[in-house]
Amino acid sequence: MTEIINAIKKAAIKINEAIKYEDTSKINSTNSSGDEQVKLDVISDEIIEKEFSTVSSICEIISEEKDSIVKINPAGKYLVAYDPLDGSSLIDVNLSVGSIFGIYKNSFDGENIVASVYVVYGPRVEMVIARDNVELFKLDEKTGEFTYQKELRLKEKGKVLAPGGTQKEWLAHHKNLIESLFKEGYRLRYSGGMVPDLHQILLKGGGLFAYPATHDKQKGKLRMLFEVFPFAYTYKLAGGLAIDGHNDLLALRPDFLHDTTPCFFGSDYEIKKVLQAYHNKG
Ligand code: AHG
Ligand code: MN
Ligand code: MN
Repeated sequence: MTEIINAIKKAAIKINEAIKYEDTSKINSTNSSGDEQVKLDVISDEIIEKEFSTVSSICEIISEEKDSIVKINPAGKYLVAYDPLDGSSLIDVNLSVGSIFGIYKNSFDGENIVASVYVVYGPRVEMVIARDNVELFKLDEKTGEFTYQKELRLKEKGKVLAPGGTQKEWLAHHKNLIESLFKEGYRLRYSGGMVPDLHQILLKGGGLFAYPATHDKQKGKLRMLFEVFPFAYTYKLAGGLAIDGHNDLLALRPDFLHDTTPCFFGSDYEIKKVLQAYHNKG
């Protein structure tokens, strides 16, 4: 596991450099989910694959930008799924983006995730590692070291709300839920990048991030392997909850590698509100 985390640290430093100096434009191609790719999606994917290719404890890898699994070492005991550059549609406007990693044993099912890591490329580069607990690290760009900052824990209730998806396509019970939380006093905090949006909620100690099923996308947008399972693992380990509207996200099994699910991440109070609003609905 330490080997994998070290490879992620090295890749993160290189991706951070690429974000600063490489071309930020789109290329004329789409990934398996049908998203238009930017050059940096592909560069980031290549950086990570290269770092992982020499890690003997990794059996196989899959990324949001790859159609199929890449085999590394048949004797390795871990499987790694990753989103090399999350929020890449924000790259041209210089908002924060991230990388997300889920580390699994045996299969890429929610119940088999054993650790997760994400990196935020913002005004600072930060890394959150979820293993036995959830820990925040900060990159010292002078030394290239990630230094430990603190343990992260969610409180019982937060103050901020990050409601994703196209509002015009929200289902009635979802719209009512979001409106009722705003009426309670929640403040809107939504950048359009799940890494900084979920990082904000985690560091502020609570709140709700939602990317629901919508009329046009009945299984939501966010991908189980690359985005949802890693954050579900992090949030649960930090004392929060992660559900699809009804059930624990980590109970899900993807039907295919790029499968998606509606998802809600938050602290206890807000997730209970989601469960009430979704009870007997879709
Ligand atoms: P990616 O850049 O890896 O394709 O993922 C972006 C994700 C996520 O970060 C964000 O919450 C969501 O897509 C926003 O999507 P829409 O703007 O399409 O709602
Ligand atoms: Mn993504
Ligand atoms: Mn991505």
